Amino acid sequence: MLSLVNKRILLGITGGIAAYKSAEIVRRLQDAGADIQVVMTSAATEFITPLTLQALSGHRVHLALLDPESEAAMGHIELSRWADVILVAPATADFMAKLANGEGSDLLSTICLASRSALAIAPSMNQGMWRHPSTQYNLERLRGRGVHIFGPTEGSQACGDIGPGRMTEPQDIVELTADLFETGALAGRKVVITAGPTREAIDPVRYISNHSSGKMGYALAEAAAEAGAETVLISGPVNLTPPDRVKTIHVTSALEMYEAALAETVNCQLFIASAAVADYRPARIAEQKMKKAADQMTIELVKNPDIVSAVAALQNRPFTVGFAAETTQVEDFARSKLERKKLDLVIANDVSDRTIGFNSDDNAVLVVEMQGAEAIPKINKSILARQLIARIADMLPTD
Ligand code: C5P
Repeated sequence: MLSLVNKRILLGITGGIAAYKSAEIVRRLQDAGADIQVVMTSAATEFITPLTLQALSGHRVHLALLDPESEAAMGHIELSRWADVILVAPATADFMAKLANGEGSDLLSTICLASRSALAIAPSMNQGMWRHPSTQYNLERLRGRGVHIFGPTEGSQACGDIGPGRMTEPQDIVELTADLFETGALAGRKVVITAGPTREAIDPVRYISNHSSGKMGYALAEAAAEAGAETVLISGPVNLTPPDRVKTIHVTSALEMYEAALAETVNCQLFIASAAVADYRPARIAEQKMKKAADQMTIELVKNPDIVSAVAALQNRPFTVGFAAETTQVEDFARSKLERKKLDLVIANDVSDRTIGFNSDDNAVLVVEMQGAEAIPKINKSILARQLIARIADMLPTD
């Protein structure tokens, strides 16, 4: 299935004749639902105008590294974090050499160097240049580093030669790009994820809740579905569209979330609790709106069940992952949560850093296991979700 809905593709265009086909790549990526930012090298602008790509992508095209105006709008580091995938099409022999050598001599190579997103290139060049040992050597170095190589194909070339070096056709490039998201790492597994806040009613108009946009949990559900899992998302009230291919159960209170979670964990191999569940709920919910009268008011609260602990205590428990939002001693508190709740993994973030967590599109986390901890630096939540799902998939017991 060709879907790039919600995917952010940074299309890098370098200076080869196939650059004229980049316009078509933009259109086809958009047809598949992707959001696109275009970065062009100066040689690419000799083959196709930035205005064409701007009109098609709906975004200003990024051209120069040392341009204060564009850096202020969306700088190179921001672009490198924004992208789910960087696709360089066409990629010239010169650009492949730059990439292989880790150069950061222009905007596109710098973004590739700064980014931890998946990187794919569609080489395009004269057949002699392609066959040259230097290009083949660079190709192997890039492949060895995990760069995805799309093509090239063989056939007649703009220069009159016949041979390998033609850029893969736009539609094929788009299909190969979509395939990058479909890892199959969780094929045959059932995954249940809680997300968002819960709301604990005080009366018909008031409630107690927590800060939580639900973005992390929704991104995890999307990544789990892409990895081939049968995915169930149990969501508190959020302003997000449920991902495709995910069974989404909408709940309001912690008790509803608890019931849905226990019902869904049957035959499930992975449970991820990313919800910000209210620890307490009012002991009684007033039937009518409570009137303000006295200067002070006391609401009696009772403890909500701990959902992730309840799942971890099941006899046939799934691999159980919790989140920890901390403001100090992140690793210590996360580790004590891991032990106290009997979890397999805790994903901890420092919520005192306002640039990440809660409502942000980015997050930086510490993945805490019994044996150690590993930091994943600030990155957009969908990329982080995919990285987390890939790691967790590797940890699941094989059965
Ligand atoms: O105890 P604390 O709320 O800090 O733990 C956070 C982790 O526990 C998160 O994974 C959260 O989803 C989960 N949790 C839960 N049920 C609760 C409280 C927290 O599943 N009642």
